Amino acid sequence: MAKLLEIKDLRTYFHVDEGTVKAVDGVSISIDRQQTVGIVGESGCGKTITAQSILQIMPHPGRIEGGQILYYPDPDGEPVDLAALSPRGRKLRAMRGNEIAFIFQEPMSALSPIHTIGNQIMEALMIHNDGMSQSEARQKALAMLESVGMPNPEQRIDEYTFQLSGGMRQRAMIAMSLACSPKLLIADEPTTAIDVTLQAQILELLKRLKDEQGMSVLIITHDLAVVAEMADEVVVMYLGKVVERGSVKDVYKNPSHPYTRALLDSIPRVGQERRKFLTAIKGTVPDPYSIPKGCEFQPRCEHAMEGLCEVRKPEYAEISPGHIARCFLYTHNESEVG
Ligand SMILES: Nc1ncnc2c1ncn2[C@@H]1O[C@H](COP(=O)(O)OP(=O)(O)OP(=O)(O)O)[C@@H](O)[C@H]1O
Ligand SMILES: [Mg+2]
Repeated sequence: MAKLLEIKDLRTYFHVDEGTVKAVDGVSISIDRQQTVGIVGESGCGKTITAQSILQIMPHPGRIEGGQILYYPDPDGEPVDLAALSPRGRKLRAMRGNEIAFIFQEPMSALSPIHTIGNQIMEALMIHNDGMSQSEARQKALAMLESVGMPNPEQRIDEYTFQLSGGMRQRAMIAMSLACSPKLLIADEPTTAIDVTLQAQILELLKRLKDEQGMSVLIITHDLAVVAEMADEVVVMYLGKVVERGSVKDVYKNPSHPYTRALLDSIPRVGQERRKFLTAIKGTVPDPYSIPKGCEFQPRCEHAMEGLCEVRKPEYAEISPGHIARCFLYTHNESEVG
């Protein structure tokens, strides 16, 4: 299928007094048209900063220091390198919300407390559609609230966020982010803050809207079950790097990086009490200012090979076509270990 976005060797760093945080350190991810890609990994591995780098909305002093973010507005046309655009320039501003929309974990950060949700959606619609009248925009906003499953849309359209429940706010934010018919929807932990029943409903909603609107979706989550449910492709990140990537089918059937295996082992089974995320993996994520030498995962890895993994950085190995893992288990010669 035709490519929509191709992130190539992206590096986004924070230079702070304590040192340099390489939040995103050579990440490559590709998203096809109408495809859903999931990014998973422990807290702090760089999921959010990767996604925010696409629109250059990462917090200060984060900066893109290398790589490309190629966006293909037309399937057969030339790409635009979003990483090369000025963060405050007109071109990137036009991308935000128009071509690429973001939904956040916390809807209140995206919605205004002083305007009704109807007015906010209408304004987004009218900015996006030149010449759309007030009454047309209201009709469309109402239809959108209906399509995201807002209960009582005729009443809710004139309400403020404080009058809505958490689930309704989530739906209002999704309606608003879709007002401009984006080609890519980025959903950063869209269901972490809400209860389980509602989670399932919001995920179903995202799936349906994706199909109806023909969008691509980049979904970020801690939860491998969510990725399995939603995504075509999965990207596993550890300390700013992609450690494994491939189709959901291949990666779940044949998880190849020891980190991915540990992640999968830590998924609670039915009937088992939900374990705290990743208690199955020994040790903790290292401090971002003192990244281990050699493979970043080696201090926690059950398969670490002495004389190799703590010395050199691994390269990507192809496990099967389109499925890669960054691990010496697949690239070393016996002579190197010892
Ligand atoms: N403003 C900042 N200044 C310095 N470092 C930052 C800043 N914001 C993020 N970072 C660092 O960037 C790294 C990646 O953070 P990021 O928010 O992308 O992680 P994440 O994978 O989204 O985690 P979570 O699952 O907790 O949301 C972390 O080491 C974090 O400490
Ligand atoms: Mg995050």
